[in-house]
Amino acid sequence: MAEELIISAGSKEEKYRELVPQVKAVVETETDLIANMANVASMLHETFGFWWTGFYRVVDGELVLGPFQGPLACTRIKKGKGVCGTAWERGATVIVPDVDAFPGHIACSSLSRSEIVVPIKRNGEVIAVLDIDSKDLATFDEVDKKYLEEVVKVL
Ligand code: SME
Repeated sequence: MAEELIISAGSKEEKYRELVPQVKAVVETETDLIANMANVASMLHETFGFWWTGFYRVVDGELVLGPFQGPLACTRIKKGKGVCGTAWERGATVIVPDVDAFPGHIACSSLSRSEIVVPIKRNGEVIAVLDIDSKDLATFDEVDKKYLEEVVKVL
C-alpha cells in the first residue's frame, strides 16, 4: 500500500480525484473494516483539514462511534436522531449547510457549523455512516456528495 498520502494543491474536485485512487489502493490490501475506516478518516481529514471526520457503525440498532479524527464526540446516536440518524433512516446522504437550522442536530462540538453524512450500505442495509463536520458554514455540496459516496463504496 501507499506509505504516504500525496495530494497537490488544487480545487476541491482535483483533490478528490487524486484522493479516491489512493483510498482504493489502501483499502484493497486490507479486509478489516475498522482498520480501513481509520485510514479513510485520516486521509479525508488530512486532505481537506475538516474539523471532524469519522464513522459511526450500526451496532445493536444504534449508531456507535467508530474510527475518527478530530475532537471528542458523542458515542451513541439513535435512528432518526441528529444528522447521522437522519441519514441512516433515509438511507441517503444528508448535507446540512447550517447546523443551527437543522432541527435535532446533535452538537458534539459547539464549533461545528456545517456537516455532511453519507450512509454506507451492505446488501441495501445501512451498516455505518461517514460523518464530516466543518467549522465553516456551507462547506459541503454536490461535489463532496459525489466523491464521498464513491469513497464509501470502496470500503
Ligand atoms: N452532529 C452529528 C453528531 C455527530 S458529531 O457531529 C461528531 C449529528 O447531528 O448527527
